[in-house]
Amino acid sequence: MNRPTDTAAGLAEPSQRDSYRNYGGDPESADPTTARVREFYRHNHQHQTFDFVAAKKAQWLQFNRREMSPWAALDYLNTLVDESDPDTLLPQISHLLQTAEAIRADGHPDWFVLTGFIHDLGKVLCLFGEPQWAVVGDTYPVGCRHSERIVYPEFFVLNADTRDSRYNTEYGIYEPHCGLGAVHMSWGHDEYLYHLLEAHLPEPALYMIRYHSFYAWHREGQYRHITDARDEANLRWVQAFNPYDLYSKNPNPPVLAELKPYYEDLMAKYLPATLRF
Ligand SMILES: [Fe+2]
Ligand SMILES: [Fe+2]
Repeated sequence: MNRPTDTAAGLAEPSQRDSYRNYGGDPESADPTTARVREFYRHNHQHQTFDFVAAKKAQWLQFNRREMSPWAALDYLNTLVDESDPDTLLPQISHLLQTAEAIRADGHPDWFVLTGFIHDLGKVLCLFGEPQWAVVGDTYPVGCRHSERIVYPEFFVLNADTRDSRYNTEYGIYEPHCGLGAVHMSWGHDEYLYHLLEAHLPEPALYMIRYHSFYAWHREGQYRHITDARDEANLRWVQAFNPYDLYSKNPNPPVLAELKPYYEDLMAKYLPATLRF
């Protein structure tokens, strides 16, 4: 699967992009970023089992923790550093604003801009005490065999599902072309925010939110045996979103104070005044 070509005005030059999402460091490297990201994925791949995902859904999809305005949730994200991301230590709200502004600069619809601005809002799970390996990082289906094209696939030997005959076949618990809506994804901010916003955004926006970290699908072309026609139709939206998420991490960020009125109006158009987390 090819990634979409993009000529987006707000994005880094293509020549600079090869250095992003570079997980290919020497395993024995003393580079602290490589070691940090590897350790993150060792925990993630070991613990994200089918039973773990079911337990996290039962826990968090009740949305009975607290109510917050979208802005209050965004303010919290400023305190979070994403251990899974080898590219940036930028505050989360800066990443969200840069992503959204790059989308807006390219003239996309306002719901696409809003999606850029809130796509990582589910990382508030960290605020509630969840470990980062259960909130951020690449996502993938559970309940069937792990693709070799998932980042750090060697760590799945530590995952109990790898030795469980219900889950370690090509289809596992799934039917051919059952659709991703029937597939359980590893637990994280994508799945959580999708359910939180399900009633408020158009379908392409919900696909972007739910699957933006599912690189094995939207970049590597894996898992096509369990996608359906709806997934295939929305794949282009997930792929269209991805460069903005990755490459708008530039060192000259837009100024939030100047843009706040625009984003307040945008949130008011689509989202309720308070969200239940
Ligand atoms: Fe994300
Ligand atoms: Fe992001």
